[in-house]
Amino acid sequence: MSQHNIVILAAGKGKRMRSKRPKVLHEIMGKPMIEYVVEAAKQLSPSKIVVVTGHEKELVEERLKEGGLSFAAQEEQKGTAQALLTAEPMLGEGDVLVLYGDVPLIRVATIRAFMAFFRSSKGVAFMTTEVTDPTGYGRVIMDGDAILDIVEDADADASQKKIREINMGICMLGREMLPLVHEIKAENAKAEYYLTDICKIARTHGISVKGYHYDDAREVLGINTRKELLEANQIMRERILGYHMDQGVTLLGEDIYIESDVKIGPDTVIFPSCFLRGKTVIGEGATIGPHVVINDSVIGDGVTVEPFCSLDGLTAEAHVKIGPFSRIRPATRLKENVKIGNFVEVKNSVIMENTKANHLSYIGDADIGKEVNIGAGTITCNYDGRKKYKTTIEDGVFVGSNTELVAPVKIGKDATIGAGSTITRDVPEGALAVTRVKQKHIEGYARRKK
Ligand code: UD1
Ligand code: CA
Repeated sequence: MSQHNIVILAAGKGKRMRSKRPKVLHEIMGKPMIEYVVEAAKQLSPSKIVVVTGHEKELVEERLKEGGLSFAAQEEQKGTAQALLTAEPMLGEGDVLVLYGDVPLIRVATIRAFMAFFRSSKGVAFMTTEVTDPTGYGRVIMDGDAILDIVEDADADASQKKIREINMGICMLGREMLPLVHEIKAENAKAEYYLTDICKIARTHGISVKGYHYDDAREVLGINTRKELLEANQIMRERILGYHMDQGVTLLGEDIYIESDVKIGPDTVIFPSCFLRGKTVIGEGATIGPHVVINDSVIGDGVTVEPFCSLDGLTAEAHVKIGPFSRIRPATRLKENVKIGNFVEVKNSVIMENTKANHLSYIGDADIGKEVNIGAGTITCNYDGRKKYKTTIEDGVFVGSNTELVAPVKIGKDATIGAGSTITRDVPEGALAVTRVKQKHIEGYARRKK
């Protein structure tokens, strides 16, 4: 394949979003829309990828800085043609493929097919599709497979507005065609330099611009409004669910929400209304949900997460059991076979193999050994109002119910804490620690009350 450049246009403000955030940073299934375009671009092995930035360009560039991309700053956004010319000095050898930062659902295979079409026709080519509602898009006026003109929505007359063949925004130009882009004028309703005007100009040079019709309009949705953003999220969500099912994951609800970077092993079963977010990785044969939210967590093989859990920043090894109704907060590590039960909150703690905290506990900033039993109502008092302190519980400890462990404190190996104790000093290995007051009986109390 001959060499080519990819220019991604992403300088626009996205007025119709009514947002402080640049449009291309709005997320689709947990990832800024422009990242989908950048990922597709990279798979096409171009000699250069130039992203044209403008509105809030620092934010956009910051987000994309690790991608080996070049950035061209378009100070004022005067249209797609001007945007392309901003990138011109940075281009390498070869033809130029233009992608839009706000058309993120396009698949690599589709772009490849379009590029092959471009190469067979040469010159200039646009991708077009037919939509039921063309509002907002450039209408394509065709003559056979040649494009006579693309008329923008704002400039279209009543009969042109009825045309349902639209410009998808993806186009490719031979390098020798760039001088034509310089001829484009801003003579239209928006006083912008429209790249689409290249069709008219090419004709005056006797060059015919070719249209590549693509059937699936859902793939080329341009996102200009919050409504289109929702639509794009829905399309991408279905695509992601389909992908995981193809990979051997059982998904039992159409409402399951899985963000685009989440990984799931085969034979894992996910019940309805689960949200799997961020960099979450789930192993094989796990069971999740219903009604579970997992963010940025690593969940091992055969783990069970029962209903109504919220897990964030957790690493759980194989066969851990969590829930129902557990809350795990960042920097928590649960080793094999740990059991965290209902109404237990764990944060910034490491819990070793086979330890159980089955009911109603708070474990924060703790190191807990193997085979420990944390009784119902145990609380690590890790905060004195100013600083956080650590609790260490060694292997084999039995913590009786309703215990407060006032950190910093250490419970030695195989020690036992009597139920209802408030532990403020370290407990030696193998000892029994009890702090509650002795029980006394006042005989005949009920009789005397009468
Ligand atoms: C554009 C096309 C339209 C097509 C539609 C497909 C033109 C003139 N119109 O219209 O034919 O049907 O996309 O979604 O090309 N941008 C810049 N700098 C600018 C202006 C825009 O970088 O000065 C970027 C935007 O950030 C965006 C893309 O180019 O990523 C498209 O711009 P937008 O204003 O959304 O164009 P549309 O009106 O949607
Ligand atoms: Ca657009």
